Amino acid sequence: MIGIYLSGTGNTKHCVEKIVGLLDKTASALPLEDPSVIKHIKSNSTIIFGYPTQFSNAPYMVRDFINKNRLLWKNKKILCVATMGAFSGDGAGCTARLFKKYGAVILGGVHIKMPDSVCDSKLLKKSIEKNRKIIRQADKKIEFIAEQIKQGKYPKDGITPISHMAGLFGQRLWFYKKTAGYTDNLKISADCVGCGLCASLCPMKNISVKNNRAVAGGKCTMCYRCISRCPQKAITLLGDEVVEQCRYEKYC
Ligand SMILES: Cc1cc2nc3c(=O)[nH]c(=O)nc-3n(C[C@H](O)[C@H](O)[C@H](O)COP(=O)(O)O)c2cc1C
Ligand code: SF4
Ligand code: SF4
Repeated sequence: MIGIYLSGTGNTKHCVEKIVGLLDKTASALPLEDPSVIKHIKSNSTIIFGYPTQFSNAPYMVRDFINKNRLLWKNKKILCVATMGAFSGDGAGCTARLFKKYGAVILGGVHIKMPDSVCDSKLLKKSIEKNRKIIRQADKKIEFIAEQIKQGKYPKDGITPISHMAGLFGQRLWFYKKTAGYTDNLKISADCVGCGLCASLCPMKNISVKNNRAVAGGKCTMCYRCISRCPQKAITLLGDEVVEQCRYEKYC
């Protein structure tokens, strides 16, 4: 077994690591951008695959990765895990359908509510105490799910036809454009001091530092990792001002 995840602010990393740890103490989890990820997928038959829901879809980097590596998935047994801030009609189903198309066996789907990661929006922002409670509830759900899985019962979050309709009509039809590709909308303000942290963190290598200033390219997958970590709060994407830098470690 192997866990694979994309995680911007740490929520999905935590959830996938915890699921994998409870199911198989000898197994590990690694980020999608890890150079050895293909090698690990090839050598494992069961994959716990996680990502943050974005507008009831999987981040473009995740779908791009699945499509580009379509020959990898035949006969793999995959549990799709979608973390979310509030609502994810068929967040897990978005990759489950793709994996199935490429010959994978879908073991199940898991939706886990976690703190919201959109640092430059007031919407869905909660107090630290409330976010701690959300994480405690998420951990309980993961522990319950792991026990069920050990008995051969896999959760079906997001992979039923009803959840497909909920994701489609609840969000995707109206917001699909936002996740239709990579974006060049990342904004870096004059407050940037050129420290290079964002460039070193970006899973897409979408940022470089030139003349002591960070410069963004056009391949942002909207993970919010750089935005949540910039010491100058100089980076924004959907909004125009960093309201709160959200990170799993702040709440755990
Ligand atoms: C661009 C973007 C879009 C998002 N859209 C949704 C959404 O449609 N529904 C939802 O419940 N959460 C949404 N979220 C919140 C994240 O899915 C959630 O906070 C997730 O746990 C973040 O995981 P991470 O820390 O592993 O990146 C969105 C976050 C981002 C950055
Ligand atoms: S992390 Fe912030 S301050 Fe550092 S280079 Fe990136 S944008 Fe500039
Ligand atoms: S530029 Fe920032 S938000 Fe975009 S993919 Fe890279 S780290 Fe994530």
